[in-house]
Amino acid sequence: MFLTKEQEKILNGDSGHAAKKSMEILAALGDIYGADKLIPVTSVQVAGVSYHNLGDAGLEFLEEMARDGKAIVKTTLNPAGMDLEDWEDLGIDAEFAKKQIRVVQAFVKMGVSPTLTCTPYLAGNDPKFGEHIAWSESSAVVYANSIIGAYTNREGGPSALSSALLGLTPNYGLHLEENRQATRKVKASATISSISEFGALGYAIGKAIGSEIPYITGIHEVRLSELKSLCASIATFGGTAMFHIEGVTPNKTTVPNEEIEITQKDIENAFASLTDGKDPDFISLGCPHCSIEEVEKIASLLSGKKVKVETWITLSRAVKGQADRLGYTKAIRASGAKIACDTCLAVAPLTGRFRCLATNSAKGCYYGRGNNKFKTLIGSTEECMSAAVTGKWKGG
Ligand code: F3S
Repeated sequence: MFLTKEQEKILNGDSGHAAKKSMEILAALGDIYGADKLIPVTSVQVAGVSYHNLGDAGLEFLEEMARDGKAIVKTTLNPAGMDLEDWEDLGIDAEFAKKQIRVVQAFVKMGVSPTLTCTPYLAGNDPKFGEHIAWSESSAVVYANSIIGAYTNREGGPSALSSALLGLTPNYGLHLEENRQATRKVKASATISSISEFGALGYAIGKAIGSEIPYITGIHEVRLSELKSLCASIATFGGTAMFHIEGVTPNKTTVPNEEIEITQKDIENAFASLTDGKDPDFISLGCPHCSIEEVEKIASLLSGKKVKVETWITLSRAVKGQADRLGYTKAIRASGAKIACDTCLAVAPLTGRFRCLATNSAKGCYYGRGNNKFKTLIGSTEECMSAAVTGKWKGG
């Protein structure tokens, strides 16, 4: 990959250790993927924040980078392993909390905004159509490419941090128009109308076409919360970083001839595959983190009721601020359900604490099983909140 004279100097260490390390990472990435050059980015989202996943080696790397590294573009953070304020209430131990706080402090020292959410686009990091950005967090990457129309590859934590410090990313993959075209037409003939059903649709498409870019037809009405769910599951179960929905998403694409169909049966099969539990002892909504509309709905479902099962509503601190002002936080907490900012069921250290998770998120089921060894149940927001109050799954 071509480097300018100035970029060569950074690689030689003229701008300090963190900049040199970052240039090494981006140059290696560019060489591997055949990029011609580095291009400027306007926004970065960094994943790999939970101490649960980073461990001491990750913490040391970040503290070393923070000695002289400074973000030069708007940069936000993925969820951490705990709520930074209410971690004790969520049952996190003090030793873990100490290390997690050091991780976040290292990022803050580098000028990174500690948003701690997988929905940066709801927390002030909202690039515009056509902007080149460098985001990690698979659900947010799909959202940025598909719904916003920004251009990003699916970055890892270190490459995203490198982009934050240099304001650059290698020019390959989804930064190039020719790689953003749909490669398979997908006709959704099933009726899809809730967060969990859009998650199941993403599961079915992902399983059917893997990392190809689908051009989805048959979706006429879709809310932001449902798009979030689709973005999360299509990336989790297939690996694509982008999709198009006819009449909904903003990118131009050629329309492929080859078509597959996702039927009602496929959606039912997706639900069946994501269900292997019975009675939930942990309920979590907000994967990806809740929008204010979701919080409003949860507050109205729990209003005047008491939960019998440990229930976490995960969301960004930005959305919680809105929920506080609108009275939703109070209503949810009055039911005994917990508001968990900054974290989620996948990155908090929850292994061994619960047996069976109920959620409305297909991605949540995947990580609940994989990261925390839970049995899982998937249903609508109403079904999950009813289980929270009755202690029974779908009236069972
Ligand atoms: Fe977000 Fe955690 Fe789900 S990072 S997408 S809430 S697994």
